[in-house]
Amino acid sequence: MNMQLSNSAVLDPMETASLDELRQHQLQRLRWSLNHAYANVPLYRQRFAEHDVHPDDITSLDDLARLPFTTKADLRENYPYGMFAVPMHDVVRLHASSGTTGKPTVVGYTQNDIDTWANVVARSIRAAGGRKGDKVHISYGYGLFTGGLGAHYGAERLGCTVIPMSGGQTEKQVQLIRDFQPDIIMVTPSYMLNLADEIERQGIDPHSLALRLGIFGAEPWTAELRKAIETRLGITALDIYGLSEIMGPGVAMECAETKDGPTIWEDHFYPEIVDPVTGAVLPDGQMGELVFTSLSKEALPMIRYRTRDLTRLLPGTARPMRRIDKITGRSDDMLIIRGVNVFPTQVEEQVLKVSQLSECYEMHLYRNGNLDSVDVHVELRAEHQGLNEAQQKAVCAELSRHIKTYIGISTRIVLQPLFSIKRSEGKACHVIDKRNPA
Ligand code: DLL
Repeated sequence: MNMQLSNSAVLDPMETASLDELRQHQLQRLRWSLNHAYANVPLYRQRFAEHDVHPDDITSLDDLARLPFTTKADLRENYPYGMFAVPMHDVVRLHASSGTTGKPTVVGYTQNDIDTWANVVARSIRAAGGRKGDKVHISYGYGLFTGGLGAHYGAERLGCTVIPMSGGQTEKQVQLIRDFQPDIIMVTPSYMLNLADEIERQGIDPHSLALRLGIFGAEPWTAELRKAIETRLGITALDIYGLSEIMGPGVAMECAETKDGPTIWEDHFYPEIVDPVTGAVLPDGQMGELVFTSLSKEALPMIRYRTRDLTRLLPGTARPMRRIDKITGRSDDMLIIRGVNVFPTQVEEQVLKVSQLSECYEMHLYRNGNLDSVDVHVELRAEHQGLNEAQQKAVCAELSRHIKTYIGISTRIVLQPLFSIKRSEGKACHVIDKRNPA
């Protein structure tokens, strides 16, 4: 194992620890985390009692399966601070995610939590190939969303020069990318596409920019989109994963040397994959729902938190720690179209296979009687705007055929004028549900 990367990027000792050492370390931290949660959060005490289990009963990592799950609903029902395990005067930061309905999910951090978070994000940027002295342009939103500030503290911790741009003001973003010459950009992949359009609109050759690396996450994106972004901008695009309930960005990061899915920073976040229906733990390699237990978090310990993200655990490559496969989507984002389970990422894959189409797409769902139908809205790329009607029809037919073959649903393809599909400034929304819930 190469413990030293080029340009004196020395890894954290835990990044290269043997699996035996790692498992030992995890068990020790797990015991601390369970006792901390049990002693300080009434909900955990009550749930453990209902399951007739006590932290002292957990003597191996496999014993974790005996403990009950925690869900987003638990956080909502204990809104805002009911699941905090430390007194409020030890909480130095709050973040919150809005969610589509109901109360936001509130998360808190002690100073040690903020330090851990900065360290895992610094580790993530380094794993992506970032180094001290690099300029990092951050377009993840600053504020209650964990993206902006999470990336910011990590980039500073690594010794980078941070450009804290936040989301929005697309024209200005591009001006600063041209003038400040950042080496790295951290942004959602869908907003990167929007920025790429703006770079072209301003007549800038993307290859003339200093950007060499994009650290993209906060939403599902496909291997096809990675290729499209890399080609358009001449950069390396890597995947960063995280969620506010477990920390924010930097729970897992794809390593530059292998580019084969995010490595989970398992010394802080213990992963399991469970059957989304039965909750049974599944073996590594099998697809299911990702569940995390925090091993070091003080303010908001999370025991077996159900992320709703669907993926599988893969063996370590660049590091001994395990990886996750690209997230297909969240179980809550799964559409059931005439009995077929469909994720927007599957449609993205097919759209990007048709060379005349831009990367932007929207799925519009309708209900006719008891049957659901889907229109897929797409745009021709600027260089294909001149296609005649027959050629346009052929493009639509090609996409419709791909979707039918690979996903198994019939769709109507609607060609929209260029730039008429709403561009993302953060997390993209690819589904417009026009079904009447009644
Ligand atoms: O999105 C944290 C984050 C910020 C991650 C910036 C990466 C970069 P939440 O708003 O709580 O936190 O949303 C978490 O976003 O459960 C996934 O469904 C999705 N998600 C995050 N990263 C990825 C990724 C942030 N790389 C939810 N691939 C998660 C796919 C992702 N989905």
